[in-house]
Amino acid sequence: MLKILVCVSGGGTNLQAIIDGIACGEITNARIVRVISNNRNAYALERAGAAGIDACCVSPKEYADREQFHEAFLQAVEEKEPDLIVLAGFLVVLPEKMIQNYRNRIINIHPSLIPSFCGKGYYGLKVHEKVLERGVKVTGATVHFVDEGTDTGPIIFQKAVMVEEKDTPESLQKRVMEQAEWQILPRAIDAIANGRVRIEDGKAWLLK
Ligand code: GAR
Repeated sequence: MLKILVCVSGGGTNLQAIIDGIACGEITNARIVRVISNNRNAYALERAGAAGIDACCVSPKEYADREQFHEAFLQAVEEKEPDLIVLAGFLVVLPEKMIQNYRNRIINIHPSLIPSFCGKGYYGLKVHEKVLERGVKVTGATVHFVDEGTDTGPIIFQKAVMVEEKDTPESLQKRVMEQAEWQILPRAIDAIANGRVRIEDGKAWLLK
């Protein structure tokens, strides 16, 4: 059974989609061993608590420098010996050592169709603001493996969502979550947990 560790920063709706996906059998062969938040007030921690999942906060604010924070964060991860780390709205840059130690074992959900509207400065609501500013008609979400770059790792799943003329960043964020993120993140975890994802030449492929 795949041991999943989920990293969160905020509301935790993607975490909830994973919890629900496991409960209803949409995700098989996997369980969440820990939720880590960088933010003590993240509602995601309440969601973990309500589901009886081990949860903790490792906040950079509580350490003297980045190095000490990274050390504590890595320790909180390694303690649980996860097979897969899921960044579900985690807005902190990972320690490089962690990316090396968990190569092809960290995935991220991003609220756009990568390579559009991604990279440094593109996170959360900001992504949807930029989408509306540019006036694109189709956006969506992407699940990808995490490498040293920002949103540059192999893409596992993408799903498109239509932009509507009357959209606000908030309404678009909600539609992208409902129609894309909460579907493709559980689907990607299930595919990985059941050995259906292969990485070759820096690209991820789904085995039938
Ligand atoms: C989600 O929309 C996720 O795609 C985004 O943050 C939100 C977290 O919501 N992640 C990024 O922007 C990463 N670059 P949630 O806490 O309700 O899951």
